Amino acid sequence: GQNASLRSSISPRIVPKANSGSHISPEASYKVAVLGAAGGIGQPLGLLIKMSPLVSALHLYDIANVKGVAADLSHCNTPSQVLDFTGPSELANCLKGVDVVVIPAGVPRKPGMTRDDLFNSNASIVKTLVEAVADNCPEAFIHIISNPVNSTVPIAAEVLKQKGVYNPKKLFGVTTLDVVRANTFIAQKKNLKLIDVDVPVVGGHAGITILPLLSKTRPSVTFTNEETEELTRRIQNAGTEVVEAKAGAGSATLSMAYAAARFVESSLRALAGDPDVYECTFVQSELTELPFFASRVKLGKNGVESISADLEGVTEYEAKALESLKPELKASIEKGIEFVHKQQ
Ligand code: NAD
Ligand code: LMR
Repeated sequence: GQNASLRSSISPRIVPKANSGSHISPEASYKVAVLGAAGGIGQPLGLLIKMSPLVSALHLYDIANVKGVAADLSHCNTPSQVLDFTGPSELANCLKGVDVVVIPAGVPRKPGMTRDDLFNSNASIVKTLVEAVADNCPEAFIHIISNPVNSTVPIAAEVLKQKGVYNPKKLFGVTTLDVVRANTFIAQKKNLKLIDVDVPVVGGHAGITILPLLSKTRPSVTFTNEETEELTRRIQNAGTEVVEAKAGAGSATLSMAYAAARFVESSLRALAGDPDVYECTFVQSELTELPFFASRVKLGKNGVESISADLEGVTEYEAKALESLKPELKASIEKGIEFVHKQQ
């Protein structure tokens, strides 16, 4: 039916098998909030979430311009009710009772900038928003999109700890776009059917911290050393590819909205009891000695159910890349943690 094709267009790997329908509530019953909803990502993301058959309420928050976005989206004849919230005085009401909070608020890159160059603008935005999440919907899944993700997720964790409500199973850095890109580029390069391709991307979400595990591509496929190096570099540099093409008008928004909508849909299906939901995401992790690390996780009703052993059996190239990304990722994580502690 229409709903099934909608779902499959966003998240092809988690479409339920014909006999697994009993695990899934067919009704729209989840509330989702988007913070930064009038922005480049927020608007198309709002549209894609409005199309979800699992959503009953869509709460859109921004510091300006969100009324028009909500009025516009509310005319789509899909189940969810759209509500708008403008400015800090309306933030608490936006968050009460929501199941998933998605945060794409903050400044995007311009050519020549690194994601870390956004730290000074975005760290305090994320801190303030997550404080409100802690006060109003501490049980919600929290999806952090705002860059630098390698630092904003640790910031969110520290804020939640200070508020006494940190649940590491429910805090996610959104790295789905790295997987979406890896799948696209590899399918193109190797002439594979796009819908079948799935590549785990681990580490973090900036430059060399983005590590696609090409050796774990499904379906199984072999790469020459040159292909591995070229594809790895392209996946690591894909955000910059878009920043340069947009030439000052921002970074990825449409592919990001697509990727974020897939991660929202996966989260909602996990909440609805689908037993077979896996996504790569940047979470608190014991996979390495670093406190946070992106890898494939199994999602369930309570958030992260388990973390896949993706680092077992990697190639020498991948093992080396893993070691060389650790110092940068560690520094970005520590920078985030220190930011929150310094403010006390
Ligand atoms: P944008 O400037 O188009 O939109 C950002 C929105 O955030 C604006 O509407 C702005 O009003 C809002 N905002 C600013 N401060 C706010 C606050 N305190 N509370 C609520 N809303 C606030 O930017 P964009 O292109 O949508 O990008 C947003 C962020 O997402 C950037 O930091 C960008 O680097 C990041 N991003 C991450 C990924 C990823 O893979 N994780 C991908 C693309 C972009
Ligand atoms: C991306 O990967 O597209 C985002 O992180 C935005 C950026 O600055 O590259």
